Amino acid sequence: MNTTDIKNRILQLQADLHKYNYHYYVKHESLVSDAVFDDLLRQLQDLENEYPEFADENSPTKRVGGDLTKKFEVVKHQKPMLSLSNVYSEGEIADFLERTQKLLPDETLQYALELKYDGVAISLLYEQGKLKRALTRGDGNQGEDVTANVKTIASIPLQLQGDFPDALEIRGEVFLPRKNFERLNQERLAKGEEPFANPRNCASGTLKQQDSRVVATRSLDCFLYHVLAENTANTHLQNIAKAEQWGFKVPTLQKQYIACAQNISDIISFINYWDKERQNLPFDIDGVVLKVNSFAQQEELGFTAKSPRWAVAYKFKAETLSTILEDVSYQVGRTGAITPVAHLKPVLLAGTVVKRASLHNADQIEKLDLHLGDTVYVEKGGEIIPKIVGVDTSLRLAEAKKIDFITHCPDCQTLLMRKNDEAQHYCFNNNCPTQIKGKMEHFVSRKAMNIEGFGTETIAFFYEQGFVKNIMDLYHLPFEKILTLEGFKAKSVQNLQTALEISKTVPFERVLFALGIRYVGETVAKKLAKHFQNIANIAQATYEELLQVDEIGDKIAQSVKEYFAEAENKILIAQLQELGLQFAMQAQENAHISEALKGKSIVVSGVFNTPRTELQALIEAHGGKNVSAISAKTDFVLAGENMGPAKLKKAEDLKITILSEEDFFALIQQKH
Ligand code: IVH
Repeated sequence: MNTTDIKNRILQLQADLHKYNYHYYVKHESLVSDAVFDDLLRQLQDLENEYPEFADENSPTKRVGGDLTKKFEVVKHQKPMLSLSNVYSEGEIADFLERTQKLLPDETLQYALELKYDGVAISLLYEQGKLKRALTRGDGNQGEDVTANVKTIASIPLQLQGDFPDALEIRGEVFLPRKNFERLNQERLAKGEEPFANPRNCASGTLKQQDSRVVATRSLDCFLYHVLAENTANTHLQNIAKAEQWGFKVPTLQKQYIACAQNISDIISFINYWDKERQNLPFDIDGVVLKVNSFAQQEELGFTAKSPRWAVAYKFKAETLSTILEDVSYQVGRTGAITPVAHLKPVLLAGTVVKRASLHNADQIEKLDLHLGDTVYVEKGGEIIPKIVGVDTSLRLAEAKKIDFITHCPDCQTLLMRKNDEAQHYCFNNNCPTQIKGKMEHFVSRKAMNIEGFGTETIAFFYEQGFVKNIMDLYHLPFEKILTLEGFKAKSVQNLQTALEISKTVPFERVLFALGIRYVGETVAKKLAKHFQNIANIAQATYEELLQVDEIGDKIAQSVKEYFAEAENKILIAQLQELGLQFAMQAQENAHISEALKGKSIVVSGVFNTPRTELQALIEAHGGKNVSAISAKTDFVLAGENMGPAKLKKAEDLKITILSEEDFFALIQQKH
């Protein structure tokens, strides 16, 4: 690149990033993924460092805070924030009651009934009665620290009253009352701005606002529904009453927001009452939550990997509308599963424009007896992908063509077949290009190996060029050749190489997830890794041994056995192992490795080569403590690129030792 090219590239990057920022912060729309944004920002930072003559004081790299990309500190929850399993009918409620009674056959069960608030989950941590930290749910294991924003919510006490426990975590739902939502949207429309789709989206966008003054103007509200503290009470309802005394806004008996039920008919009448009455509430609800009231019984019932066994959410029937079925296309998943997708005449449903709906499988199409041009009923509840729930056959034209499920893979034309008694059709061709690309995309994805720079298009391009035919090939890319291709600059190629190198440190459980074994999602991968410790043990495990792992059932055990029975998979694993990927749990993942950071409080801030979650895990593994905000009690600040100048100054003022990534690894005497 000559200097004019460089200057133009810098200007272009600055303009693009300004645009993305504007859309993200002001309009709550992401034009690009976080990974792409981070990558572009890094490219710009590199170019500006190298050519300071083209830097600009208003460049997106100079924004105060540097928290542009990593906006809020990510903090681990003390206990995971689980979700609830959903039920949709009286029959399913009866099943739930039967299930719990069967597990506790000799006991009388009482159920606390609550509204299911349609907002954003929040966890509040109080120490000695003072609000210390507010975290979003995040991925359930770790959330974002939104304390400053939460402090603007008038109904959340900053100081507790009465006889509160010294350590208290309380969870609830932040929501935007309907009146405030309507007022806000009117103001936005008057200013020519895009209105928010619904109060939930607005509440969630507001909680993640950078400027807490803006949050304050939105008048968010909050109901608290889950107390995590020791020895405060024996039942959930007692705890809620306690929470009210401590100063929290809790659902009240007086307004019948909460009730205690002994049997299914009490439960059904509560549900029916609120299904009708909900339109008169000042806030949105999307169902009713049933919780076993006694803590002793809750403890006996325990949890599955994702939700408590002692509670379920009954969801009100979703909104339904009719529209026209224009076409059906077929997607090939990375496992070869074929998913039919309905293309619909766009309709506005529950606040969003719906153009597509999943049809699940051939049986579903058959059951609905779908014809092209049919008037179909589409249903959507919450974030769930809309589905077609019925057809108005009276409106069908005589010449309408019946939809016949495809017989061959839309990509590689292999004859499709079903597996055992599954409803899904599969393309069983291991060389099917869409599957191969899909497997690679999954492998590099953020929650798997997190190999940056390999987007869908890059993978497709490498595949078309014949560079990659399987996951292994990613580690043998012909970089010299790639450098000669248009669109690949030295820096970006180097970034790809670095990203691949870094992936060799990704812990075993994520490597296991990245392999893409059917039904082995993140949680299952963690359980398997922890239980069996290394890949050889998993590969050799018998079906029965697999079933012994907590939460692993028949389907998963079967799928794991099938995966390791394939020679191709065994070869892939051997090759990846050879390359140095992690196929065994590291000592640090199991226990403390050292006491190098014993008693040290460390704030991690900025952007690093090593994923932040790994740095935080290492801090813990070496006896240190992750803290979110810099204070006089902080021992070290682990500072990455783009750490905000305000934070840096605070750390300097307090004379806190600032560590670079290099310093940190030197301190714990570990290579990275
Ligand atoms: S209890 C371990 N109670 O629904 C149980 N959740 O999928 C914790 N929600 O993430 C949840 N109203 O954000 C509970 N009265 C209520 C609720 C409620 C709304 C949300 C919550 C949770 C999701 C469950």
